[in-house]
This record gives sequence, C-alpha cells and structure tokens, in this order.
Amino acid sequence: MAETARRRRPRQAGRLVVVSNRLPFVVERVPGSPPRLKPGAGGLITALLPTLQNRGGTWIGWPGISGATEDLAGLLRDSRRSLGFELVPVGLSAEEVQGFYQGFSNEIIWPLFHDLQSLCNFDPSYWQAYQQVNRRFAEETAAQIRPGDFLWVHDYHLMNVAAELRGLGVKNRIGFFLHIPFPPLDIFVKLPWRFDLLRALLEFDLIGFQTMRDRSNFVQCLRTLVRGVRFRGQGQVLSGRVGQHRVRIGHFPIGIDFKAFKDGADRPAVSELAAGLRTQLASRQLILGLDRLDYTKGIPLRLEAFRHALLRHPELTNQVTLIQVVIPSREDIPRYQALKVSIEQAVGQINGQFTEPGGWVPIHYVFRSLARDELLSFYRAAEIALVTPLKDGMNLVAKEYCACSIEEDCVLILSEFAGAAAQLHPWALLSNPYDVVGTADTIAEAFHMRLAMRRRRMRAMRRSIRRHDVFWWEDLFMRAAFAKNLDDFPLLDDYVPRIDIVPECC
Ligand code: G6P
Repeated sequence: MAETARRRRPRQAGRLVVVSNRLPFVVERVPGSPPRLKPGAGGLITALLPTLQNRGGTWIGWPGISGATEDLAGLLRDSRRSLGFELVPVGLSAEEVQGFYQGFSNEIIWPLFHDLQSLCNFDPSYWQAYQQVNRRFAEETAAQIRPGDFLWVHDYHLMNVAAELRGLGVKNRIGFFLHIPFPPLDIFVKLPWRFDLLRALLEFDLIGFQTMRDRSNFVQCLRTLVRGVRFRGQGQVLSGRVGQHRVRIGHFPIGIDFKAFKDGADRPAVSELAAGLRTQLASRQLILGLDRLDYTKGIPLRLEAFRHALLRHPELTNQVTLIQVVIPSREDIPRYQALKVSIEQAVGQINGQFTEPGGWVPIHYVFRSLARDELLSFYRAAEIALVTPLKDGMNLVAKEYCACSIEEDCVLILSEFAGAAAQLHPWALLSNPYDVVGTADTIAEAFHMRLAMRRRRMRAMRRSIRRHDVFWWEDLFMRAAFAKNLDDFPLLDDYVPRIDIVPECC
C-alpha cells in the first residue's frame, strides 16, 4: 500500500527542509571534553527521524542547549554522514530559551492546547520572545533554502514561521503539521494573541492536524474569529482562500516505523532482555506505563486507578506488577518538578500500602531515559500497556507497544482522549483517565482477558498500525501539499475502522 502510494505521489522538484524547534539530538557539554550528541525524546523526533532518513534533506532546529553553536559545525557534519541528511542548528540565548521555549511554548500553548487553561501563565513578555525566535528560525531557514524546496514546519513552537518567511519574500511552498491537539473554540479564545496566531497560521499553504477532532476545532475557530475565510470540501483536505493566498487544511494521523519496531523487538538481544524481565517477575502479569515526564500524560491518576484496581479486585494481589517508566523532560519548568515529586509520593504510598516484605512490590518505578534495546524489551515483556493521557495529539507509545507485541497476546488500555483512539478504538480497551474506578475495572478486565480475544484484538491493531505507518503519513501529507486537484485525494476510509466493537466470540 505504502509502495503504491509512493509511486503515485505528485512531483516535488526540490529538497525537503524540515524545521522544528528541536533537532533530533540534544548537545551535551561536559567541561573539559568536546560536545557530544545524545538522542532527544518525544513523538515528533520518533516520527520525523525515519522520514528524513528515508528521503534525505535538511533538518533545521535548536540543539537543546543555550549559547553559541559555532563549535558544533564539525559534530553535525559528521552526523550527516551517518544519518543521511543535513542538520542545521539554530542557536538560542538563555533568555530566549526562557521566554520562547519554557514560557510561550510550554507555559501557554502546551497547557492551553491540552485543554488545561488553568495551568497557563499568559505573561505578555513570552509573546515578544515567541515572535522574536520565530523570526530567527525564519531567517535561518531563508538562508538555507533554494527555490523549489518544500519547507515542512513542525509543531506549536513555530506557528509564526510562515508569516515571517513571507515577510522575507520567500515564495516556496510551506506546510505545517501540529503534533499536539488543537483545542475547542471556547478554550482557544482565552489566548490573548488568538487573532495574531490564526492569521499567522493562514500563511502556510497546508496546515495539518492529527485527527478530525483537531481539524474541526481549528475550522470552528477560523469561522468564528477570522472574517472572510471560507473553506470548501468535505473530504480529507479542505481548501480555502485568504485574500490571494490559497490554504489547505487536512488531518493526517501520524504513524510509526512499524517494521523497525517489529524487527527490533524480534532481535535475540531484546528477546533475551524481555525473557529475563519476565523470569524476575515470576508468573505475574506485567503492566507497563511509559511516558515523558508530563502532566498531560495522566500519571498520578493512572497510579490512583492502579491502587483502586488492587482494592477492588483482590485477585490481582501478587499477580500483577506495574512498571512505570518516566523519561525526564522539561525539568527546568517548576510544574514538571512538582509533578515528579507527586508521582514519587504516589508510588511510595501505593507500595507502602501493598508491598509484601521480602516478596511482591506492586510498582517498579524507573526515572531515566531508556536505551533502545531496553525500551523494546519492556514493550515486548509487558502483557498489558496502560496508556492513559488526559489528552494527546496521537500517542506513539501505544503504537510502538503494539508493533513490539510479536506474539500478539497483549492488551492495550488506551485513553479515549489520545488521538490514537480514533484509529484503535474497536480493539483497545478504552478508558476515561479521569474515571479512576472505571480504569481500575478496565485493568482487571485486561488481566482476565482470554488469549484468543487478546490475539484477535492485537492482530487487528497491528495490521492497522503497519498499514498506516510513518511513511504512509508522510506520503499523505506530501500528496495534500502537491495535488493539483483535491477531488482525487484519497479518503481515509480504511483508517477509521467501520466496525465498532470486537464481537465477544472467543
Ligand atoms: C511533544 C511535542 C514535541 C516535543 C516533545 C518533547 O512530543 O509535540 O514537539 O519535542 O514533546 O518535548 P521537548 O520540550 O523536550 O522538546
């Protein structure tokens, strides 16, 4: 399917130039040694890395540290040879990191777009910093590109970049993809800079969202807040005009490199690690929670649901172990530090309540980044994955877990509010993360689910995730950007499943 789609893609003459806040690596400076690159975390990097490795091109972004970037040139050139694409750093001062990244991006847009408006800090100086840094990204991009290149800007940090590029006279085609949700009108409207942001977004040629939910929210905001824009079409991609400028809007649900995860999980080293983990847990079922440290991931409520599961379903005692992995993230932001403390307190309380001295410890808590093989072995070893964000653009952990479930005997518990639920809802066990009692019962349901039913569900999810992988996603976006006639554009009719539930047969 992906092959066929790739052959039919409309012609795109120039290079692909990706612009995102982060490069796929974070530079680490240790006094007395040369700078080193370590892998970055998060869904955007996981998705874009295979895309660029597949197509080649240029990736422009911030290397994750403040200060000068001149001494990084050699390091980034070397990595180009191994990666197959070019890395261009955009240096940010400590002040810019504070106002643009920690401030506007992560204290305003991140909570607001996840419907958590009470966590926003609408400090006006953050907006100044956001505009200034978006201009810097635009200037760096303008200096790198040639006519005919396709510019693909990513995520909420860079929503002003097309407007800035147009101001610099850039005529290239520019696409934008939002990896996180777009909020409903009554939440978006709280943003003091709502009109500026919508107008800036309309300078892109194609604006992509993860799900129909996000796209509809955006269209409703446009209809209510921007005069004179009209969008036509009912299918996958809408088209409209703002003055002389044509804009397309679509939803393009992001996927993973299914084959890389599946093949990786099947490697002997990973199988051995997974088997070792299972042996240590004796015959208990392993439940896995794996998230970046973030309040949108719903970790404290998940732990509370697990506590309720142990109280309401005594047969789970000594029969399940929850491994909760938290990948460090945004630790300079006070709210993230407070979240870490509250997770650690909850783990301590639950373990204090249920641990059997010398024996069963219900929660194993891991706070660090995982090496690739270790990550795959956790996915491979876990019988149940508990993926319960409060809201999520897509959630790639859910898809990676399924891809690694080679024996197809595992259960995915998935939040209704993750974008992935639009694709996987017939086969995952859905949960409302705010309903800790309901989630507790869902954990028990997963624990008791018979093998044949697990297989039916997992096989169907893996088929869908394999078919709609990250290359399919990239292809869909490119086709929407370059198609002459949108009437020929394929519908996502095989993406959103037609059946509602798995029949209770087995
Ligand atoms: C989410 C965002 C990405 C971001 C990632 C990690 O997945 O959509 O844009 O890169 O989180 O967060 P960080 O702030 O460390 O870049």
